[in-house]
Amino acid sequence: MSTYQKIQNELLQQPKTWLITGCAGFIGSNLLETLLGLKQKVIGLDNFATGHQRNLDEVKQQVGDDLWSNFKFIQGDIRNLEDCQAAVTGSDYILHQAALGSVPRSIADPLLTNSANITGFLNMLVAAKEAKVATFVYAASSSTYGDHPGLPKVEDTIGKPLSPYAVTKYVNELYADVFQKTYGLNSTGLRYFNVFGKRQDPDGAYAAVIPKWTAAMIANEDVYINGDGETSRDFCFIENAVQANILAATASQEAKNQVYNVALGDRTSLNELFSSLASTLKENEISYLKQPVYRDFRAGDVRHSQADISKAQSLLGYQPEFKISQGIVKAMPWYVDFLQKAN
Ligand SMILES: NC(=O)c1ccc[n+]([C@@H]2O[C@H](COP(=O)([O-])OP(=O)(O)OC[C@H]3O[C@@H](n4cnc5c(N)ncnc54)[C@H](O)[C@@H]3O)[C@@H](O)[C@H]2O)c1
Repeated sequence: MSTYQKIQNELLQQPKTWLITGCAGFIGSNLLETLLGLKQKVIGLDNFATGHQRNLDEVKQQVGDDLWSNFKFIQGDIRNLEDCQAAVTGSDYILHQAALGSVPRSIADPLLTNSANITGFLNMLVAAKEAKVATFVYAASSSTYGDHPGLPKVEDTIGKPLSPYAVTKYVNELYADVFQKTYGLNSTGLRYFNVFGKRQDPDGAYAAVIPKWTAAMIANEDVYINGDGETSRDFCFIENAVQANILAATASQEAKNQVYNVALGDRTSLNELFSSLASTLKENEISYLKQPVYRDFRAGDVRHSQADISKAQSLLGYQPEFKISQGIVKAMPWYVDFLQKAN
């Protein structure tokens, strides 16, 4: 039996109370769905900056009214300490996802990104310390590797940040470390690498590549590739990221107060991704016959990214269950349904 199965069984036997910040967003709402499915009590905090009520409605529909009654939603802002204090009350574990994602957004408005990602993060740490929660798990980011050219990325070798967003995510790690040293607050940072799956927002200027391209293909619009398409990323299916969160929260003391790469440990080029999305859409009876449109490389984009996941494997028992192609197959019916309704 895998560590994840064992922990899931234990949680079913002895339910805990979890706080998910950013629960109306992509990763947060998937965490919510899994935890409610495991009969946990969940508190959610979100201000709908980039999350949606429709994500919460969908989780409610998925889990049913009975399990939904274990969920308490607080509409609030992590930039407000009182909202954080109200939300942490009674939680055993915190999964802190609320932040403003996107490198381009942070370049367009560094103050806004800073306020949510640093001030908001600090408020959550203060509230977690006061409430004496068992573990504070937080969304860190592969952007922390910055300009370091090494591949695969190993946790203790990072470069200089390449964007305001990357600065904020690195500051999170520094603050978490200092809160452990000065106040004894246990925390674990999960450096996500290009997470994808259902409910990742396809709309807006800051959409991630998989939902953005899928939406363009379904609408039969052009798909733009920045550069020659050989740029590569370690795409991580959402279920793997959910597993990492649950393992991190429930980990032994030795495995806490660390940062971990959360990825598949593989590399997929943008050209391969394009083909994979088009062929999976075909299996869903949508033919996309256009070729991608190549344009200039985007400033600040790193050429290749791939994680070494051995630390999470050995200390957390993390075993990613889905490869990228399996994740795309699982996520596609959701996108087809969502985007066809929207069009
Ligand atoms: N998706 C990825 O590939 C990826 C990669 C690296 C790191 N991350 C990090 O993972 C976390 C979740 O990302 P996501 O992809 O689910 O993004 P998302 O935008 O779908 O979710 C973020 C959620 O946080 C909420 N939020 C933002 N500011 C808030 C505030 N001030 N107060 C309360 N709630 C607020 C938003 O409304 C949204 O529901 C973020 O911290 C992000 O930086 C994501």
